[in-house]
Amino acid sequence: MTTQVCIIGAGPSGLLLGQLLNDIGVETIILERASLDHVLSRVRAGVLEQGAIGLLEQAGIGGRMHAEGLVHEGFAITREDDVHRIDLSGLTGGKCVTVYGQTEVTRDLVDRRAETGGVTLYEVETVELHAFDSDKPHVTCRIDGQEVRINCRFIAGCDGFHGASRRAVPEDAIRTFEKVYPFGWLGILSDVPPVSHELIYASHSRGFALCSMRSKSRSRYYIQCNAGDSIEAWSDNQFWTELRRRLPPEIAEAVTTGPSFEKSIAPLRSFVAEPMRFGNLFLVGDAAHIVPPTGAKGLNLAASDVHYLFEGLRGHFLEHDDTLLEAYSKRALDRVWKAVRFSWWMTTMLHRFPDQAPFEARILETELAFTLGSEAAKTALAENYVGLPY
Ligand code: APR
Ligand code: PHB
Repeated sequence: MTTQVCIIGAGPSGLLLGQLLNDIGVETIILERASLDHVLSRVRAGVLEQGAIGLLEQAGIGGRMHAEGLVHEGFAITREDDVHRIDLSGLTGGKCVTVYGQTEVTRDLVDRRAETGGVTLYEVETVELHAFDSDKPHVTCRIDGQEVRINCRFIAGCDGFHGASRRAVPEDAIRTFEKVYPFGWLGILSDVPPVSHELIYASHSRGFALCSMRSKSRSRYYIQCNAGDSIEAWSDNQFWTELRRRLPPEIAEAVTTGPSFEKSIAPLRSFVAEPMRFGNLFLVGDAAHIVPPTGAKGLNLAASDVHYLFEGLRGHFLEHDDTLLEAYSKRALDRVWKAVRFSWWMTTMLHRFPDQAPFEARILETELAFTLGSEAAKTALAENYVGLPY
């Protein structure tokens, strides 16, 4: 098989890049290790910045997102029993975010790719990348037991943190930066109305909690848990009790509880790989970087990477100009590091760290008190939360 861009991974990064390229007539083949059902069953965050919304519209999937997505002009931060609203719109000159689950974004992109005739091969095994330091890279894999070779001009590594693309890069060509946080997030989905129409980030001496949603009748809640906790140790009842303890009383009383239909524990990590280009291989999204979910930046960073790479590939194929392609890694990383910093800052300020020195604990309490009391600090928070410009 031959194509112009071989995309590895059919998560949001791969599907969005594939769609934008498809729409300007650049051929792509997407190789995905998992089944379509598996890809569509993954539950992840759901807060979209305006820049990501614009790209999804450009990819032709604005319809359902605008019909069903919830526009949020602010959110709350609680500090023990106090509630503070962050007026995103007021602090940023009218900007806001849209709550629309990543699972729905993925489904819309999968449907659009099928409608427009894009090729996605699912359940491919042993994906290997070859000769990406030359102008004739190729990818090999096994499909239904058969060895398949795909010749291409470029490879886009959109295969997430555990994918094959980053691992194909020689060790001396890549530098990585990592921070693992000493706690996890225990998250549940439940078909109960959300406690508030806006998100609530709760900082509490018992640990962090987050009240989020997928729709007016589906709630997504999280609590900070120990890194080594197992799901079995947390019954629904224990979850709801612990969540309520971390919320101010008037909010805790208003929480509607019900059975969970999804429950999972996610570790928290910050990770960046530099650079994001190796010859004719480009890393995109989670393949190149991970942020803890506190700032809701994972999907949004994937979208900005796709934007920069799409501009570069469009320049190459349509205008025979490689300036933007050459600039991909730098442009993407400049924005990535700012979101990595913001996500680290939100995480550090809002969680409780086990075994923290008393001095550090007081400094973090003061960081939050200062932020909530200063218009300038809240403006900086809001500017980052709605998304820095591309
Ligand atoms: N070969 C082919 N596909 C692979 C391989 C491989 N060796 N390894 C992983 N994949 C697939 C995964 O099954 C997954 O469908 O690559 C896809 C990567 O998707 P994501 O992990 O969702 O990463 P990305 O598309 O960059 O999306 C970033 O997703 O993880 C969240 O928080 C993150 O919101 C962010 C967004
Ligand atoms: C979510 O709804 O899953 C969500 C929202 C905001 C975050 C993280 C996760 O910061």
